[in-house]
Amino acid sequence: IRNEAIEKIQSVDEIKKLQKLKVTYLGKKGSITSVLRGMGKLTKEERPVIGKLANKVQETIAQSIQEKQAIIEQKAMDKQLQEEAIDVTLPGRPIQVGGSHLLTNIVHEIEDLFIGMGFEVKEGPQVETDYYNFEALNLPKNHPARDMQDSFYITNELLLRTHTSPVQARTMRSYKGEKPVKMICPGVVYRRDSDDATHSHQFNQIEGLYVDKDVRMSDLKGMLNIFAKKMFGEDREIRLRPSFFPFTEPSVEMDISCKVCSGKGCSVCKKTGWIEILGGGMVHPHVLEMAGYEPNVYTGFAFGMGTDRIAMLKYGVNDIRQFYMNDKRFITQYHQA
Ligand code: PHE
Repeated sequence: IRNEAIEKIQSVDEIKKLQKLKVTYLGKKGSITSVLRGMGKLTKEERPVIGKLANKVQETIAQSIQEKQAIIEQKAMDKQLQEEAIDVTLPGRPIQVGGSHLLTNIVHEIEDLFIGMGFEVKEGPQVETDYYNFEALNLPKNHPARDMQDSFYITNELLLRTHTSPVQARTMRSYKGEKPVKMICPGVVYRRDSDDATHSHQFNQIEGLYVDKDVRMSDLKGMLNIFAKKMFGEDREIRLRPSFFPFTEPSVEMDISCKVCSGKGCSVCKKTGWIEILGGGMVHPHVLEMAGYEPNVYTGFAFGMGTDRIAMLKYGVNDIRQFYMNDKRFITQYHQA
């Protein structure tokens, strides 16, 4: 029994199997135990001899099991240590760094330009009242020009703002007709449009407002000229065309020249060589009045542009939906560190 047991114990390399052997030899029903149990059948002379022998064998087997167990446990420990070892000399895994979205960058760029000309940046709610989105901007209920901006209404009086102009009305109102207003307001706006390459039901605008004593159309033209040149290049020119907005009178649309010249000659982006980028005009006296400004004392100009469109023109993006699709192949091209 002893030799057999020791041989088996030596060949085992798993704790579980070792435990089984322990049961087989030393357990209640194990072989040694049954030898010891059978002692009663032996003669008086045999008993001490066999008993001694059996005890010795039991001891030897138990010891051998214990030794083996220590070896197996040591091996397991070595293996674990090896597997969990950290090689501190390995190069680290590269970390993916995010970046800001192209539209965010453009907004910051435009903000910086106007902050440089003394404007402050204001924000307002995207869920707006009918009053600030339309009425305070000279668009009373049932005014036909409301159709220019198809709206998402939430209740009769609440809607998703269709432009950032309500922020201007709110700011003027908060200044109580007492001090000049010189602000821009970037933000998301919503219109009921079918999405295609040039339309999105959600897009971004930046509007500007300058109200003070003696603000003129020439101030508007001068500042927008600086803006266009800084944004698109010193070789760009601007032109103003007459237009209509309910909240400005007179109203204009502004084009920038888009002649691109290279060694091979010049090409224009459109047949005319001009492309429209924003709307603006002199704040309607009625709008000033509703916001608490005395139209005989104060005058002002306002302008508004689609941020997405500016980004598309500047970076040659041909589908506005790219800005909102979160396609990393597109987005990461414009990441700035
Ligand atoms: N709010 C106008 C629009 O969304 C743009 C605009 C702003 C025009 C300010 C004139 C003055 O179309």
